[in-house]
Amino acid sequence: MNERLDKILASQNLGSRKEAGALIRRGAVSVNGQTVRKPETKADPERDEIVVEGQRLTYRRYVYIMMNKPAGVLSAANDPRATTVVDLVPESMRRRGLFPAGRLDKDTTGLLIITDDGDYAHRMLAPASHVYKLYEARLDTPVLPGDAERFAAGLDLGDFTSLPAELTLPDENDPYVARVCIREGKFHQVKRMFLACGHEVQQLRRLRVGGLELDPNLEEGACRLLTQCEAEAVFS
Ligand code: URA
Repeated sequence: MNERLDKILASQNLGSRKEAGALIRRGAVSVNGQTVRKPETKADPERDEIVVEGQRLTYRRYVYIMMNKPAGVLSAANDPRATTVVDLVPESMRRRGLFPAGRLDKDTTGLLIITDDGDYAHRMLAPASHVYKLYEARLDTPVLPGDAERFAAGLDLGDFTSLPAELTLPDENDPYVARVCIREGKFHQVKRMFLACGHEVQQLRRLRVGGLELDPNLEEGACRLLTQCEAEAVFS
């Protein structure tokens, strides 16, 4: 699809529209080998070879960012009073329209996807997509015999009964740490499921969304761009 060159550059985090225009006017941009000096020149960012200051532009229509969410930040795009996950996205990955695809509680850590692709987020969160999420919880009391069966049977949480969920112990020597895999995403769901079995969640971390695992090299608060293939792994 043809778009104005200044708009294309601005959408790829190469400055504001005005700055991109200035870059083009001073001859720093070429399209298919030809220097272009008019910001309004049209190009197809997916087909044309656009070179900016000697570097070939890798065009991304949308971005998909993996964040290892730290505790204490809101899963929101912006908030007048609190730091949000989007505030933590580094300058080099910033774009207009970024938002978290799904929510983690303020005190929950781990895998969060931040994107500007509304359809992707919609698809990921749609119950029909059956995207399973894996959480690890540290509890105030040890997991009891029978808890896994109760999770598997579905728990009565008052306003709804949870779908069958798998409860496992990642370390057989530590019964205070449990993993649960769910595909629903109701408010405080994991905490409420444990509470229904008499345990308070002291720490909660998301480890996996669909087929996408939290990158073990990503420190809390850090982000990295996902490839298209990794972003799609959520649905596998
Ligand atoms: N379940 C919870 O209770 N909290 C989260 O942040 C995510 C799932």
